[in-house]
Amino acid sequence: MASAARYYNLDSMIRAFIEKNGGGNIINLGAGLETAYYRLNEQSATFYEIDMPDVIAARRTILGEQKNEVLIAGDIFDMEWVKQIDKSVPTLLVVSGVFQYFKEDAVVQFINNVKRVFSKVELIFDATNETGIKYTNKYVKKTGNTGALMYFYINDGAEFAERTETKLVEERVFFTDARKMLKKKLGIYTRIAMKIVDDKKRGVLLHLRIK
Ligand SMILES: C[S@@+](CC[C@H](N)C(=O)[O-])C[C@H]1O[C@@H](n2cnc3c(N)ncnc32)[C@H](O)[C@@H]1O
Repeated sequence: MASAARYYNLDSMIRAFIEKNGGGNIINLGAGLETAYYRLNEQSATFYEIDMPDVIAARRTILGEQKNEVLIAGDIFDMEWVKQIDKSVPTLLVVSGVFQYFKEDAVVQFINNVKRVFSKVELIFDATNETGIKYTNKYVKKTGNTGALMYFYINDGAEFAERTETKLVEERVFFTDARKMLKKKLGIYTRIAMKIVDDKKRGVLLHLRIK
């Protein structure tokens, strides 16, 4: 449910950006096999899918590279990928399911680097709060996959925006629409869990205007 709600909300935020700007760059950082390009079917925007070389190679084999879509192999933090982007175009960076795995210093440094390079840029990413990270890491440790531990969290989106000298456009919880749309189709435990996650902001989508 969390993944479905995350993509549902990201899609609506990306669509709104494209509509507001009449197109633009949608840069999916740490894209994996994510399929927003196909779901949105927005020909007025250029979609960039950036990930590590082995992942991009797998993506190229499985999904290919479509019209208005550019696949770039590289590390999102070394900023080499920006050389392939038209930076005069309104740009939305989408980072979904990625920042959690890094330390806060790396995320803040990334935002500072983006600030230096782009003239007009916004960023959307998902984040868990400190309590959510503790729960998740407990689960991850149980699986024995200690390489997937999470570090970066956000307790207060407004405070994070102030600290990074960015503008908070929106802090959106995951399940507002899902709870309305699905109502009694969900079990009582799921409904309660979703309400707690929303009320306590355990999972949010943060939309920042960087410049
Ligand atoms: C949990 S997956 C999320 C995939 C996709 N964004 C989604 O929402 O379905 C994390 C992705 O980030 C990529 N990734 C992690 N660190 C990266 C880095 N430094 N540079 C580029 N990609 C990275 C991984 O290879 C992986 O595909």
